[in-house]
Amino acid sequence: MQKKIMIMPSLLAGDFGNLEASARKAEACGGDALHMDIMDAHFVPNLSMGPDVVRMARRCLGIPLNVHLMMTHPHLYVRAFIEAGASTLLIHVEAQCDIRATLRQIRDLGAAPGLAINPETPVSALFPWLDEINEVLFMTVHPGFGGQEFMGEVVPSIAGLCRRLDGPGGARFQALDIAVDGGINLRTVEAAAAAGANAFVAGNALYTARDMARDAALMRSGAAAAFGRDVFPAA
Ligand code: DX5
Ligand code: ZN
Repeated sequence: MQKKIMIMPSLLAGDFGNLEASARKAEACGGDALHMDIMDAHFVPNLSMGPDVVRMARRCLGIPLNVHLMMTHPHLYVRAFIEAGASTLLIHVEAQCDIRATLRQIRDLGAAPGLAINPETPVSALFPWLDEINEVLFMTVHPGFGGQEFMGEVVPSIAGLCRRLDGPGGARFQALDIAVDGGINLRTVEAAAAAGANAFVAGNALYTARDMARDAALMRSGAAAAFGRDVFPAA
């Protein structure tokens, strides 16, 4: 199946003195969705933003909001983030909650459920939930901070998920979006796309670009060219 290549600027790398302008910039520069990182200072050693920032973005933007909950107990906040305007709500497969019940609650409340997975977690941890989700988000850094180096060792996990989707009974999962998050730039995007990722979260690479629209377009064309092709993992 032909998948849509999606570029998702990450607001974490925006200007916290003017988050509205940074959110608007993501859409103006051709972003397909705005990625928003929610941290609880427990699942990850950092704090970031809450539902009010999601509400602000929903008010300003026409594109979907891809909301990534880096939280130990995400189920307690599902309703708040969906009411604030999350389009896709991602919980971590490592979270301490009833994963199936939480994914179903997200769908019942009208958002698209997704699962994020940390670099060390075996990709097979995702397999029981593939029927419940619209998106997988592979962390290609240890979550918690922007501006880290892409971890090439996650690339085999992406390929492992794609093999599962191409294997017996996998046809029903073909519409699943496969996203990568962390250290994505014009170089690393190719390794991720070649392994089968079709959605790309990029914070620093886009927000520090001299011309964000130009680099978002280059990221999209680089990903499209590499998607499904053999590219060696970035060093
Ligand atoms: C990291 C976050 C990322 C972050 C990516 O914990 O989940 O979404 O914003 O930032 P860059 O692209 O700068 O690595
Ligand atoms: Zn993220």
